[in-house]
Amino acid sequence: MSVLARALAATMAGTCLAIRALSAQPGSPAGPVPVERLAARRAALIERVGGGMAIFGSEELRDIERDYPQDSDFRQDNHFFYLTGLETPASWLVLRGGEPGGGTVTLYLPPRDPPSERWTGPKLGPGPEATRLTGITDVRSAEAFESDVAAWLAGLGRSGSAAAAYVSQGSPAHRELIKRLAGSYRGSVADAAELLAQMRLVKDDEELRRLRKAIEITGEAHREGMRLTAAGLFEYHVEAAVEYVFRASGAERVGFPSIIGSGPNSVTLHYDKNRRQTRDGELVVIDIGAEFGYYTADVTRTIPVSGTFTPRQRAVYELVLGAQEAALKAVRPGVTTKELDAVARVYMDGHSGDLCGSQSCSRYFVHSLSHWLGMDVHDVGDYQSRLEPGMVLTIEPGIYIPDEELGIRIEDDVLVTSEGGELLTAEAPRTPDAIEAVMREPPLWLRSPEDASSGDPRRRP
Ligand code: GLY
Repeated sequence: MSVLARALAATMAGTCLAIRALSAQPGSPAGPVPVERLAARRAALIERVGGGMAIFGSEELRDIERDYPQDSDFRQDNHFFYLTGLETPASWLVLRGGEPGGGTVTLYLPPRDPPSERWTGPKLGPGPEATRLTGITDVRSAEAFESDVAAWLAGLGRSGSAAAAYVSQGSPAHRELIKRLAGSYRGSVADAAELLAQMRLVKDDEELRRLRKAIEITGEAHREGMRLTAAGLFEYHVEAAVEYVFRASGAERVGFPSIIGSGPNSVTLHYDKNRRQTRDGELVVIDIGAEFGYYTADVTRTIPVSGTFTPRQRAVYELVLGAQEAALKAVRPGVTTKELDAVARVYMDGHSGDLCGSQSCSRYFVHSLSHWLGMDVHDVGDYQSRLEPGMVLTIEPGIYIPDEELGIRIEDDVLVTSEGGELLTAEAPRTPDAIEAVMREPPLWLRSPEDASSGDPRRRP
C-alpha cells in the first residue's frame, strides 16, 4: 500500500467526523479536542489563578498579500488552543478565580459576518454552537471584551485582595489593548504564560495521542528520507520527500523548519537552507518534526549519503548512540535534564578513546542534551523541574567536528513514565545497521509503474 493510501486509510475516520459546517477545527485530521479535556484544563488553571483573573488572546489572520487576510497559514496561539480547542482569530478567553471549585470562564468570539462568509465560508460566532464545541456556557461577542474586562479589573482592584491579573497577549495586534487594560489595574500584573507553562509540561491523554501520531508520521518520513537519499540529490529533495509524507499523513505543517544538512552543513546545528547538492562519502543530518493537531515531533537521524557508513563515521556514530542510550536509561521521575546531560557527557568522556585526538569527543558536543516537547518544539516549562510522569522531552547528543565536516546528531522523544522513560520514536531506524537496511529499500513516493518494474526508482536531478 502506498504512503498516500495508508495515510488516507488512517485519517478517514477522523476526517469524516470533522466535516461539519461549524466545528472547532474544521476538517482537521486530528479531530476536535474532547470538551471534557478542555474543561479539565480550564478547571486546573482556575485553581492556579486563585482570586485573580487570567486573560488569553487568540492569534490573528495574517495579511500576506497586503490585500485581504487569509487563513491558509493560520495557526492558533498555543495557550488559546490548549484551553478552547478553537481556531478562531480575534477572540479572547477570560478565566476568573473565586472560591475553591468556583470561578467563571468567558469566551469572546467575533460576531458572524454573513457577507464576508460568502468568501470565507461559515465561521464560528458567539452562540450555542460555540458552547457545544468548547463546553463554555458564557460566550459573548468580542465587541464586549474591552468593557467587560475593564469593569472586572476595576472591581478586582477595589476589592483590595491584591489578586494578580495574568495576561497573555496572543497576537501582536492584541498587545496595545492588553497593555491599556493591564495598565489600568491597581494590583499586580503577571504573565499568564507562566501559569500555563508548568501545566503544559505534563501532558494529558489527548495531548499524548496527538504527539504519538506526530512522532509516528515523522518516523515514516525519516524512513522515506533514508530511502531517497543518494549522491547528486539536493538537500531540498530530501526535504520534499519528508514533508510529502508529513502532509499526506495528516500533519498540517512542520513543527519547525526541516533541517537537511549534508557534508559541511552537518555541523551547523540549525541549518535549514537545504540547498546543497549531496556527495558520496558525506553524512546528512536530518532533523525534522511533523506537527499533528498542534503537537510536534522532533526526531534527528544522521545517515550516510552512499548508504553505507565509513568505519570512522560508524565509530563516531556509535559513540553518540552509546551516550544517548546511557541517558535514555537514566530517564525516570525525579531526575533533571541537567543530570541527564551529565550522564551523556560522562559516557562520552569514558568511551571516546582516541576518536577525537587526546581529548574527549564531548568537547564537540556543543549543545545541551534535552528540551521539552509538545505544542512547541522547544516547549514551555522550567528546566529546573524534576521529571514527572507525563512529561515529554528530547534526548539528543551530538558530535560536530567542523574540520572534518562531520556532524552526527541522534535525537529521540521520550515520555516519562512512573517506571522510567518510554521511547516514543522507536520506529525511526536508529542503529547504523538499521539505517543502512532502510537505505537499501526503494523510495515509495517516486514509484511509478515503470519504476516498479525497472528496479531502482531514484531519479537524479
Ligand atoms: N530539532 C530542532 C530544534 O531543536 O530546534
